[in-house]
Amino acid sequence: MHTFVLSTSMGLEKIAKKEVEKQGGNILSVHDRLITFSGDMHTMARVNLWSRVGNRVYMQLAYRENVTDFDTLYDTIHAINWNNVYQEWYQIVLKSSSQKSELSSAPAIQKISKKAIVNHLTKDSGEFLYEDDSRPTLNILVLFIGNTLRVLLDTSGNPLHMRGYRTEAGEAPIKENLAAGMVILSGWKYKQPLYDPFCGSGTIWIEAAMLAKNIAPWLHRWFTCVELGMISWDDMNVLREEARKKQYEWKYDIHLSDIDSDMIDLVNENAQRAKVEDMISVEQKDFYDLVDTSDIRWTLVSNPPYGERLEVDDIERLYKNIDKFFRVHPDCGWWVITSYESFDGLIDLKKYKKRKLYNGGEKCYFYGRV
Ligand SMILES: C[S@@+](CC[C@H](N)C(=O)[O-])C[C@H]1O[C@@H](n2cnc3c(N)ncnc32)[C@H](O)[C@@H]1O
Repeated sequence: MHTFVLSTSMGLEKIAKKEVEKQGGNILSVHDRLITFSGDMHTMARVNLWSRVGNRVYMQLAYRENVTDFDTLYDTIHAINWNNVYQEWYQIVLKSSSQKSELSSAPAIQKISKKAIVNHLTKDSGEFLYEDDSRPTLNILVLFIGNTLRVLLDTSGNPLHMRGYRTEAGEAPIKENLAAGMVILSGWKYKQPLYDPFCGSGTIWIEAAMLAKNIAPWLHRWFTCVELGMISWDDMNVLREEARKKQYEWKYDIHLSDIDSDMIDLVNENAQRAKVEDMISVEQKDFYDLVDTSDIRWTLVSNPPYGERLEVDDIERLYKNIDKFFRVHPDCGWWVITSYESFDGLIDLKKYKKRKLYNGGEKCYFYGRV
């Protein structure tokens, strides 16, 4: 058994926790956007394969509270059994992050941490540790939250939100893991129609289609954990095959539109790469033409524009119409994410649920029907 950590974005921790549990992980703690769990290497690989809202899966190599001086940092890292994860000539790349910690100088933390690793591996002999850039890389994160130290080995490689289907994005694209989180938070029932009227490159729609069809988000990519020999290619392929067998072949009723005709081609290309092109239904449409459409029974999940290329008056008009749509279609599930701070002043907040989410580093609010 090992200890692993799935990192996610603020506001998506509960979903991430359920994802870990579903893959057999035993939850140890949930806080600071980190889901700490125990499990074997297969559990770790499955979480990598299946997490829709995670950022990365790490193996936790050390955990220590009250680390306030560099000697304790050095000793903690030196005491890790690095031979369990290191093989000859691997590269060792160190990153660090400190939030409200006494040890906060990234260059100093990285230098001392690297020294502790090299000294451990060379048995304090002072020998040079040769690193070959054609060999796999151990990406180590030295993370301080307050004075609590975690030493984490990245098992994912590229961040999990980079699904790979979106090579080009439209304006202000939403991160894939946030889009998946929004669809899950909306409570969308897969057999109901879903609609995104400000679709851009189609991220919300593609994530919804993958969720409904139970397509593991990482079926087609490689992971560092395989390169590092934490799990074999053969075992990973067995997990992929298991995942393929879990896919559903039903057709779902998911629509999308955007005022910008360039988005139509982009959505089609992205859908092909995500292997959900059989479900595509995309058209060029101005949202204003939808507002008074009668008898709508969709769940609407969307990411309207909130600044880019719009004048202040236009934004206000757009958001008034988004609110009007909400009011004149009471039977329609309704969820939008925006960082447009003045939306609260245009609406009757009692009728809305509002929760804080982050698109990368950008603070947004996710509004929905109470
Ligand atoms: C924030 S972007 C959506 C990004 C999308 N979620 C993605 O991940 O690519 C907003 C989109 O709204 C579209 N848009 C702006 N005004 C519109 C209108 N009146 N009707 C429909 N779409 C509009 C823009 O063309 C842009 O693609």
